Amino acid sequence: MVKVITYGTYDLLHYGHIRLLERAKALGDYLIVGVTSDDYDKTRGKINNQQTLMERIAGVKATGLADEIIIEEYEGQKIDDIQRYGVDIFTVGSDWEGKFDYLNEYCKVVYLPRTEGVSSTEIRAEKRKLKVGVVGTTDFQKKFIQETKFVNGVDAVGVYAGGKKFSDDMVYTDTYDELLDMVDAVYIVSDPERHYEDVKKALLRNKHVLCESPVALKRSEAEELYSIAEERKLTLMDAIKTAYSTAYERLMLLAKGGRIGKIVSVDNVSTSLREKLNEEGTDLTNKWSSMCGWAPAALLPIFQIFGTDYADKSFVTRFIDKEKAIDAFTKIDFIYENGMASVKVGKGAKSEGEMVITGTKGYIYVPAPWWKTDYFEIRYEDPQDNKRFFYQLDGEGIRYMIVTFAKSVEDHRLPGYISKDVSCAIAGIMEDFIAGKNMTEI
Ligand code: CTP
Repeated sequence: MVKVITYGTYDLLHYGHIRLLERAKALGDYLIVGVTSDDYDKTRGKINNQQTLMERIAGVKATGLADEIIIEEYEGQKIDDIQRYGVDIFTVGSDWEGKFDYLNEYCKVVYLPRTEGVSSTEIRAEKRKLKVGVVGTTDFQKKFIQETKFVNGVDAVGVYAGGKKFSDDMVYTDTYDELLDMVDAVYIVSDPERHYEDVKKALLRNKHVLCESPVALKRSEAEELYSIAEERKLTLMDAIKTAYSTAYERLMLLAKGGRIGKIVSVDNVSTSLREKLNEEGTDLTNKWSSMCGWAPAALLPIFQIFGTDYADKSFVTRFIDKEKAIDAFTKIDFIYENGMASVKVGKGAKSEGEMVITGTKGYIYVPAPWWKTDYFEIRYEDPQDNKRFFYQLDGEGIRYMIVTFAKSVEDHRLPGYISKDVSCAIAGIMEDFIAGKNMTEI
């Protein structure tokens, strides 16, 4: 019996795929099809498959051409599979010509002519694009527009920067309304104190919203925004890029899955020095204080692990200005019934940006900068038991965040990444901070 193997993503199964599978099958008696896992595709730079792995497998199965379907999960697996299944022929389309010649050592390699004029990428691109407008003036804005270019199905079509114009290669509108007229959705990165109004206005005009966290500076305002979004079946999503990075997702799953025993403490530090944010030449025009800029990301793992129902919390902070609008460095301590947590955030002080999740059996260590990591370790009493985990991280997670947002809009389903509860709790922390509740100033 001649065994043939072939691999592919098979997203939105099309005629080109079917023709390839038919010819692959005809090369032998038994056809094994390897379908790529989403994680493996991510490492290959394919980030926005429209279908899940299970849907893609079902597509291949429905052709009736595969005798066996396996999942391709890691680099180097092909050699493993060829040996394990006793494969005689490896085949793929001619778009890969020459790329798999190294497999000749293990079996025969056949490149089949690719069918002209059809590809998953083209089918994805033909779908109506989500038109996104950007609201705000910070550097995030440029990064965001850059990252949309990696996500097909999403187009950044214009910017409203308070009536100002920053470059020639984007359409800058004079008013927010003008921008809202052009788009299906907005990414809001305006001053934090404007978020509530900017988000509300967009939602009331039936636009989906991706907003840099906090979505509002009061808990009640955040709750109101979520109820408007729910009523109108719109997506409202916190833009905390860390939440969408693979390493972060996995470390949360491992932590919650009991790998380090019961979790007793979550502690992280997040700092980035802002220019002119020192006592001598303070620049107060930029409203992203340490708390606004860092606390949402820093609070995320705490709320996702322990929940939002803490027993107590306190702030220690160092303000820069007399008006107390900008904090240089702030520490928040939380007490839960069965745990404790702390965050330190700073834009006017620099420290080691790491995170430690302490458990009764071991701990998770995420090195600096923990908020955009592709790597973490689980460490135990006996260092021999330690484990290291590496993941792919492209575009600091912003790219995956945009993919998640677009998918949520398309599916009319809220993404599970940052719950409404967590988002509103973040707004609540901002509210208490601004009110100086339980705060010590240094
Ligand atoms: N294939 C083909 N003819 C096409 C498209 C794909 O023969 N028009 C083959 C590929 O060479 C590969 C297999 O089908 O052997 C699975 O390809 P996959 O990468 O899943 O499909 P594409 O349409 O090329 O996907 P994308 O556009 O995302 O790269």
